[in-house]
Amino acid sequence: MSEPRKIIIDTDPGQDDAAAIMLALGSPELDILGITTVAGNVPLTLTSRNARIILEFCGRPDVKVFAGADKPVARPLITAEHVHGKTGLDGPELHDPQMPLQAQHAVDFIIETLKREPAGTVTLCTLGPLSNIATALEKAPEIAGRVRELVMMGGGFFEGGNITPAAEFNIYVDPEAAATVFKSGIPIVMMPLDVTHKVLTLKSRVAKLREIGSRPAIALVEMLDFFERFDIEKYGSDGGPLHDPTVIAYLLKPELFSGRDCNVEVEAASPLTVGMTVVDWWQVTGRKHNARVMKDVDADGFFALLTERVGRL
Ligand code: BDR
Ligand code: CA
Repeated sequence: MSEPRKIIIDTDPGQDDAAAIMLALGSPELDILGITTVAGNVPLTLTSRNARIILEFCGRPDVKVFAGADKPVARPLITAEHVHGKTGLDGPELHDPQMPLQAQHAVDFIIETLKREPAGTVTLCTLGPLSNIATALEKAPEIAGRVRELVMMGGGFFEGGNITPAAEFNIYVDPEAAATVFKSGIPIVMMPLDVTHKVLTLKSRVAKLREIGSRPAIALVEMLDFFERFDIEKYGSDGGPLHDPTVIAYLLKPELFSGRDCNVEVEAASPLTVGMTVVDWWQVTGRKHNARVMKDVDADGFFALLTERVGRL
């Protein structure tokens, strides 16, 4: 096997973030240099706590967690307890994490790591609002040229939004940060709602995870049982969309996904459409491509991968 791919996971756990972290932990092709937390689904103290709880569920307290931005770069924080519950990780019984948070700020960890590692070797996996990444880019713009790729869960186009009719949650919470990232020149892969709404936690799929029977698998199933309640009611589907693990699955098996290179701009001003990702899918503007935008996914292949990798934990 070739050298594992070095990644930083920037996250706001979140049950679907937990699934993404577990998928990464179960995959020897990936080397997790650190997990950086951001305020999003719930405030920063809780996302930082949840990240450590997830690592401890998986018996991996050796993975370092760095707390980052406690609010978006230019506006007050909006959270999503209505989806994720009061803790952000409702479902299983949650213990107080024993492993410490690192003293270094997430933004400094991101900058230092990108400067230390050879250029073009570190991939950023973003599963929440882009506040940490945008702040790192503001502080040290030279890091943009050193990132191998940034794979994000965020945005939506054909599917519209999930927090407003036009906007997806991660982009809506910090549209200024998202705009900075899309303008940065970093090679971006975007997993929008158009993809994530196709990977539903159908009962038959969750049953396969339950069969694994290990501590992390049961904790994940309990999280998903909670998480999907809201979505089933909202979308009228047999299961909720499992957004964030699509980012990790792309690194492992890009052939599960298809999309095209486009220009993406973020609306940050209009009260009606703030947080909208305006994707030039039909190439009507002539604006420069700045992201590979995914649209389709092999959902059964995705769940087979997730189940196999959670089974290794
Ligand atoms: C995104 O928002 C959060 O609620 C999820 O964790 C995911 O990252 C989906 O819009
Ligand atoms: Ca998330």
